[in-house]
Amino acid sequence: MPISSDMHQTFCAHFRTSKKSTDPKLLISISSLQMNLTERRNAIFLSPTISIFILIIISLAPYSTLSIRFPDQISEIPKEPSNRPLKTVIFALGSFWRSEAVFGCLDGVVRTTAGYAGGSKLNPEYRSLGDHAESVQIEYDPRSISFRQLLEVFWTSHDSRQVFGQGPDVGNQYRSIIFTNGTEEYSLAAQSKEREQTRSKMSVVTTQIQQLGTFYPAEPEHQKFELKRNPFLLQLIGGNLSAEELERSSLAAKLNGYAAELCPPRMQRHIDAKINDILRKGWPILREV
Ligand SMILES: *[C@@H]1O[C@H](CO)[C@@H](O)[C@H](O)[C@H]1NC(C)=O
Ligand SMILES: *[C@@H]1O[C@H](CO)[C@@H](O)[C@H](O)[C@H]1NC(C)=O
Repeated sequence: MPISSDMHQTFCAHFRTSKKSTDPKLLISISSLQMNLTERRNAIFLSPTISIFILIIISLAPYSTLSIRFPDQISEIPKEPSNRPLKTVIFALGSFWRSEAVFGCLDGVVRTTAGYAGGSKLNPEYRSLGDHAESVQIEYDPRSISFRQLLEVFWTSHDSRQVFGQGPDVGNQYRSIIFTNGTEEYSLAAQSKEREQTRSKMSVVTTQIQQLGTFYPAEPEHQKFELKRNPFLLQLIGGNLSAEELERSSLAAKLNGYAAELCPPRMQRHIDAKINDILRKGWPILREV
């Protein structure tokens, strides 16, 4: 299940080079920023004074004041948060831990949920998911990102030609699927698959296009998995978020992508800068990005 770090690097490189900004100078400056950040992470872990400072702040603040209200919107441009009509799309492209991270950081993506789809078994679970595929449900604002753009990210974020698995993960649960709702989405998906196939005739694109059926959210421990294994980032957003907050939060979705280094370069740099700023000021809470 876990993606090895080599594999992960390859995916990241693939993801980044597939984006528009491939200026080597830019990439170098991103990696130096990230190195800088890694040093800072280490510094904060290693420095007892800072750790104690953070612990004191966290323990002094009663949980009621610490419970953070996440804004519904992720962009810094003010919008009406509540009555924006969001759309939903579901993709399967290998491990749902990684899939959630791939889409969570995109501008216009409001919420992500890891889950099971594409099979017939009722109430699948991680250890017995039957004929379902690990999937990610993406809630997005169609005024900021389109189904077509999400399809682009889908294709560039996994190997749709790999048979019976994805990366090091072997099995039918890692198959590649685009779930469509209605004829318009179906034809966009079918066209994009044809384009993908014409890129190389040497191997067959295995991706299935399926009519959207029931999506079963995965168990809480599988939600925002990449973020959860980064105690530093969890601490930055206030320590102990409830499972529900982690699932609903746009900030958690973004940082989940950031933790996996799967954000588009511009967003990755933006979050780096925010975090560096917070560390400089010594105040350990990140409220929005
Ligand atoms: C499918 O599309 C219909 C019509 O556009 C919409 O009302 C419905 O909410 C969509 N279903 C999902 C799960 O997105
Ligand atoms: C986090 O909160 C939950 C309940 O909200 C509690 O059960 C758990 O022990 C807490 N974890 C830590 C590390 O404080």
